[in-house]
Amino acid sequence: MKNKAKILLVDDEPELLKAMHRMLKDDFDVVMTSQCHEVFRLMRTDSFAVLIVDLVMPDLSGLEILQRVKQMSPATEVIIVTGYASVRTTKQALRAGAYDYLERPFARAEIHHVIRNAVIHHELNKSEESGEDATDPAQTMVLLLERIRQLEDQLTQEEVRTFQNTVELLYQLIGARQHDMMMHLHSVEDYALPVARRLGFDEGEKTDLQVAAAFHDIGKLAVDEAVLYKPGPLNKEEWEVMRQHPVIGARIVGTVKGWENAADGVLYHQERVDGNGYPEGLSGKQIPIIARIVTVADAYDAMTSERAYKTAISRQEAIQELEDNKGTQFDPEVVDAFVSII
Ligand SMILES: [Fe+2]
Repeated sequence: MKNKAKILLVDDEPELLKAMHRMLKDDFDVVMTSQCHEVFRLMRTDSFAVLIVDLVMPDLSGLEILQRVKQMSPATEVIIVTGYASVRTTKQALRAGAYDYLERPFARAEIHHVIRNAVIHHELNKSEESGEDATDPAQTMVLLLERIRQLEDQLTQEEVRTFQNTVELLYQLIGARQHDMMMHLHSVEDYALPVARRLGFDEGEKTDLQVAAAFHDIGKLAVDEAVLYKPGPLNKEEWEVMRQHPVIGARIVGTVKGWENAADGVLYHQERVDGNGYPEGLSGKQIPIIARIVTVADAYDAMTSERAYKTAISRQEAIQELEDNKGTQFDPEVVDAFVSII
């Protein structure tokens, strides 16, 4: 909606009115009153998309207010608020023309959802009532598209929540087994994301990078800890096991629908731009950009972190190391973006 929809809140308890006002003021043009007679005066002088009224008022019941409001302004949608939604009163309210009802206590998301639907219904009714748009499907189409957009937004928010929860759950699982690895994955994610912003990634690419960075080493959970934390150089067999970690990690990450690109980021994060990396020996731009970013962030964090089997080098030394290996181990463009941020 370009303009905020006008809604009228009616409740005899000022504290409840204030609480609802706080929940709604950012998204709606809210007028409120605790007096029944005030409702009808306001309805005569102004027009409201939605009226939200407490079922139990001192002078008139919410049902009586509902009936009079529907006579005065049939297009205004009425939502009844009740402390107890008895089947009988709810049915009565709906039969008398209430659009919906809310049972206390309600959450912010719930009241927003109900009011938004009521506003859409109001807009559609108004078009029909005025007649001027009744033969114009364009207006109806605009309103329906607006509703679809709102539903899509809700879905996207839900998806984002699910995604963040999934990432957190996996972190916790990894942390329960290997705390160092969890810290490393967190850091690599933190280092990688600003690079994506610097390189102008869109939202989808940023999410792919976030997942790849966050789980690039998840395949190491399959590697024996004696090999993983061995202080000295690995022998041939140990090295063969270690080289499998990107493949195993990509297989794990790739099982999640929508994380296929991220899985490639995991698979190729040990490749080098000169073609001497593993598992496939890809070179230059054959290596997905996500993987090239993870490689740099991964190396930087590994170099600057103290571990049981190694000491850390300074930030300056690590940056020098990245610069020295530009074009052999690391993608020069990524190193430049990384260094400019770090
Ligand atoms: Fe790593």
